[in-house]
Amino acid sequence: MSEHLIAAAQAAMRNAYAPYSQFPVGAALLARSGKVYRGVNVENASFGVTVCAERAALFTAITAGERAFEAIAVVAETEGPVRPCGACRQALAEFGTDLRVVMGNTAGEISVSTLSVLLPAGFRFKRR
Ligand code: THU
Repeated sequence: MSEHLIAAAQAAMRNAYAPYSQFPVGAALLARSGKVYRGVNVENASFGVTVCAERAALFTAITAGERAFEAIAVVAETEGPVRPCGACRQALAEFGTDLRVVMGNTAGEISVSTLSVLLPAGFRFKRR
């Protein structure tokens, strides 16, 4: 299962738009429905406008009506498996911290964790 999701993330990576960083990232998000949503990083001349691959996948899935997720795979050309950035961890946590996070690289190295481990004290919007 992880291998299938990693393969989808790596395939997506080819469509990354990363002319500034030259650092393509691919993501594949498995919804509880069984569908897989891909995402890539989309950079911009105004650097701060850039969207990461994980959030691109998440927003595509949400747009399709999904609200519950099993796992996300992320792949980039890194030394060791790529790590999702903090903003993406927070964005994903909105929909549950039981999410399995499969981190990989183009060398085929894989490490698996969960969002609750990767984001142990994320922001929650709760007034007292
Ligand atoms: N990037 C992602 O797509 N996901 C992450 O979790 C970290 C960073 C992208 C953003 C930018 O296009 C490039 O990687 C370099 O930071």
